Order: sequence, then C-alpha cells, then structure tokens
Amino acid sequence: MLSRSKILGHGYFLPSKILKNEDLLAFVDTSDEWIFTRTGIKQRHIVLKDELTSDLAVMASKNALKSANLKSEDIDCIILATTTPDETFPSTATKVQTQLGMKNIPAFDIQAVCSGFIYSLQIADSLIKCNKAKKILIIGAETLSKIVDWSDRRTCVLFGDGAGAIILGQSDGKSGVLSTKLFSDGSWHDSLFSDGGPSKNQTVGKIRMNGQDIFKQAVNKLSEATLEALSECNLNIDDINWFIPHQANQRIISSTAKKLGINDQKTISTVRLHANTSAASIPLALSTSIENNTIKNNDVLALCAIGGGLTWGSCILKL
Ligand code: UT7
Repeated sequence: MLSRSKILGHGYFLPSKILKNEDLLAFVDTSDEWIFTRTGIKQRHIVLKDELTSDLAVMASKNALKSANLKSEDIDCIILATTTPDETFPSTATKVQTQLGMKNIPAFDIQAVCSGFIYSLQIADSLIKCNKAKKILIIGAETLSKIVDWSDRRTCVLFGDGAGAIILGQSDGKSGVLSTKLFSDGSWHDSLFSDGGPSKNQTVGKIRMNGQDIFKQAVNKLSEATLEALSECNLNIDDINWFIPHQANQRIISSTAKKLGINDQKTISTVRLHANTSAASIPLALSTSIENNTIKNNDVLALCAIGGGLTWGSCILKL
C-alpha cells in the first residue's frame, strides 16, 4: 500500500457568458442589494443553449493536463462529479474520455450533488493507495442554469455554471491528501432535490430548496466534518493555511470559518464571481487560487462541501 496521493495539476473553465445580478432584474423580481447582502453573489457564468457539461469538463481537463505536464495517455481513470450530466446515460465521464482521446480506462460519474468533488477525491485517493490507478483525472462540472427554475427567485439567483479539474497521482513525499471524511443523511431529501428523474416522472426536473434548512445544517456539518478530517491526520486548525469551503453563500462561508476559528484572510471565497456551481465549486476555487498565486506549494488546505442528500464531506491535503 502506497503512503499517499497528491495533486499533480489543476485547471478550470468558465463559460464566456456572464449574467450579473443587474441582468437578472429584467426577468426576476429581485435586486442586486438582496442577492449580494444575502449571498455575496455579484455574477454567475452561464452556458449557451448548445454548451454541455462535457464541453466545460473537457476544457477544464485540458488545462489540468497542461498544468501537470501530462498527456491524455498518462491518465488511467476518470471520475467526473456532476448533478447535470449531458444525458441520463451513458456517463458524462465517458463522453469526456472520448473527447480527450483516452481509451480502455475506467471512466464514471459520481452523483453527490455539491459534495461530489470531495466524494471523488476520497475514491481517487483510495484507488491510488491500493495501486489500482496511478494518475486519475477528477472533474467537477456543472450546467446548473439548465435545471434552475427561472421563475423561482428563491433559487434561480444562486447558481452558476463552470468546471474545475485536478489530476491526482502518487506521492512519495510528505505532501498530498492527508485525510478525507464523507457523510450522508437521506432523511433531508425534501430540503434540496430535483422534482424530476428518469424513474420518478421521466423528466429532468428543476431545483427545489428550503434554503433556511440547508443554511443551518451547512454551518454545523461543514465545521464538524472539517474537525473530524483534521483529527484523523493529527492536525489542528492552526495548521491550516487555506480553508476552501463549498461556495454556496458568503454568509455560510464566513459563519463556518468563524465557528472553526479560521480568519477571513485564510478563507478562499469565489462565490462573488462564480455563484454556486455545485460539484465544480471547490475545484474552481482551488484552481483559480493556485493560478493567481494565493495558494502555494506546501500549503495545507482544508476543503469541505455540503449538498443535496444531504451529502457532506471534508479533505485535508498538503499541496
Ligand atoms: O449548494 C447547496 C447548498 N445550498 C445552500 O447552501 C443554500 C443555503 N441557503 C441560503 O443560502 C439562504 O437560505 C438563501 C440565500 C437561499 C435565502 O436567504 P435567507 O436569508 O434564508 O432568506 P429567506 O429564504 O428567509 O427569504 C427572506 C425573504 C422572503 O421574503 P418574506 O417572506 O420575508 O417577505 C423571500 O421571499 O426574501 C425573499 N426573497 C427574495 N427577495 C428578493 C427570496 N429570494 C429573493 C430574491 N430577491 N432572489
């Protein structure tokens, strides 16, 4: 059994179309002031009608391969976290695989909504530790604008589209994934779900959410999961250089950081520019923050996410 897996490269892709809060006023009964003070969001990227989740995923993956200085043939597994797959089946991961020219390797989707990237990280880390794979492409990619109910102002202002990707490989040093924790509790189904599905009513459905339920759960569960992951690798809050929580709402981000005793200067926030991109939110925040030199090699990162299910989880890693 190998000791550890580590991030070899990262990338992201955002659709070029930007929808600012002001642009929403034309068709939603809302205000920039309400959206910004309640969520911290100023804008979101939105795909065009014929832009697919796989298109965003492929672009983010190409950027991750470039950053890792690797070629398609170096990758031996693809895990794609998404709530907005191109089709009911086959998996979007297999479409990405073909577009990247990768053959005869496992490629599959993970459905854990906003926690999908953390779920994928634990699976990839385990595969690498068991020597089942050497270099895994992990992608979080979403086109949530396609399942938002644009007539529901309580949800439609919150979400955006985008993709982030990393390549996880073997580490022989002290850096890499130090611990991961995953949880779910299906009894929260009615607080956040899509009202459609292939088996239920043969539609895709739209996002339905009781925001206050999720808000209260988020702060507690994200902070508890972060503490459990720290404890598993024998680290403390003070060891964290950067806290990267799921980017759903600035108030959730700040309240969780405060509860953990992490100051704002150590907390990454991209929700202002990206809104909530579900499974893409953490890899987007991670990749953009490495690109702009905020996060550096050897930094200790604490990642945590929560989403529909409820599902939630956390990861401590040294870059
Ligand atoms: O990624 C999955 C995880 N999801 C989340 O983390 C979301 C968690 N929840 C939240 O972020 C917040 O609960 C929201 C941002 C969704 C809502 O914020 P809130 O402070 O909980 O507002 P609220 O739902 O209590 O609504 C307050 C008021 C209501 O009006 P009344 O009933 O007080 O008259 C809403 O109708 O704000 C109204 N409202 C809006 N007003 C203008 C709701 N949405 C809007 C809107 N623009 N877009």
